[in-house]
Amino acid sequence: MKSKSIKDLFGSVALAGMQLKNRMIMAPMTRARAIGAIPNDLMALYYAQRATAGLIITEGTAPSPNGLGYARIPGIFNDEQIEGWKKVTEAVHNDDGKIFVQLMHAGRVTHSANLPAGAEIVSSSAIAASGNMWTDTQGMQAMELPRAMTKADIENTIGEFVSAAINAIKAGFDGVELHAANGYLLEQFLNPNTNVRKDEYGGTIENRSRFVLEIAQAVIKAIGKEKVGVRISPYGTFNDMQVYAEIPATYNYLVNELQQLDIAYLHMIDFAARATTEGQSLIKSIRKHFSNTLILNGGYDKARAEQALQQDEADLISFGSTFISNPDLPYKLANNIPLTPPDAQAFYTADEKGYTDYAVVNLNEILIATK
Ligand SMILES: Cc1cc2nc3c(=O)[nH]c(=O)nc-3n(C[C@H](O)[C@H](O)[C@H](O)COP(=O)(O)O)c2cc1C
Repeated sequence: MKSKSIKDLFGSVALAGMQLKNRMIMAPMTRARAIGAIPNDLMALYYAQRATAGLIITEGTAPSPNGLGYARIPGIFNDEQIEGWKKVTEAVHNDDGKIFVQLMHAGRVTHSANLPAGAEIVSSSAIAASGNMWTDTQGMQAMELPRAMTKADIENTIGEFVSAAINAIKAGFDGVELHAANGYLLEQFLNPNTNVRKDEYGGTIENRSRFVLEIAQAVIKAIGKEKVGVRISPYGTFNDMQVYAEIPATYNYLVNELQQLDIAYLHMIDFAARATTEGQSLIKSIRKHFSNTLILNGGYDKARAEQALQQDEADLISFGSTFISNPDLPYKLANNIPLTPPDAQAFYTADEKGYTDYAVVNLNEILIATK
């Protein structure tokens, strides 16, 4: 339940049975270092460096071979991947951190060159995303036409999310975040421009929300509601998502249903919604009707984060790109130390450069600088 007391960005807080060190969450960020889709030692170092976050949410991680969208993103569907992730969770837990894995099925946001043999591009409907996708073997390629999922595909995919969540617990994660934002498979079902199905998974708001809710329900049944969060991005247009008239009604319905499921948290990217009056009302209505933990994200700095907490707009704030280049972000923000800007050229490259080589603040230097 929400606490009405003053929320300090740097103060400890309870989340679904866990005690977080602070209210600063590391947002999920694809970093493309998982060669062969297997998490490795370099990734363990990267996450351990950022263990002072109240909670780390990992990069988007595929629940199945079909879900692998980008080159070198990790999966969590085989034993090698579970073993790889164990190194990550152990490293973070050794540093007293908490970590959820983001389960991201890319759906149509992929290219066949990024998929292993036997995998295929699927979505709610056979509508291609416009735009290009990087592949390691063929360079930039236009995204391809997905196959519309049958009911059997839908059932299988729900099963894949369940297995992935069970694997996540085996790998030592504290929980999973279901990625229903940013134009990936779950949002492809929510949005009527990408979902033109005529069955019970398309058409009405209830039908378009069904896939997300069935996944959430099945995953909760498998690993427990306190271990499941959901990410949404109303009004977001990333990955060729189009804005539609029923956005407020869709998200009000979805969020009310997620409330019934009593999930651990809702993680909302709010920067697109904040830009319109309708979106601002939606954010308020979500805050009002969702009484479990709400995480807000999207361009927050210290001042804006503290303001959002003080005005009770959110319980936790997640930070993305600033965590890339400032592994010790909580320490830096708490002490008003200038931030290092991230090198966007190295966001998705394959090695340690721009990944694990950002300096962690040196206490001696600060003492000298402040003398
Ligand atoms: C390099 C990079 C990779 C990202 N990958 C993901 C991802 O895998 N899953 C996701 O939900 N969001 C992803 N995002 C979005 C971030 O989680 C976050 O919403 C965004 O960066 C805005 O927050 P910020 O202004 O604090 O950076 C990514 C962002 C960046 C910069």
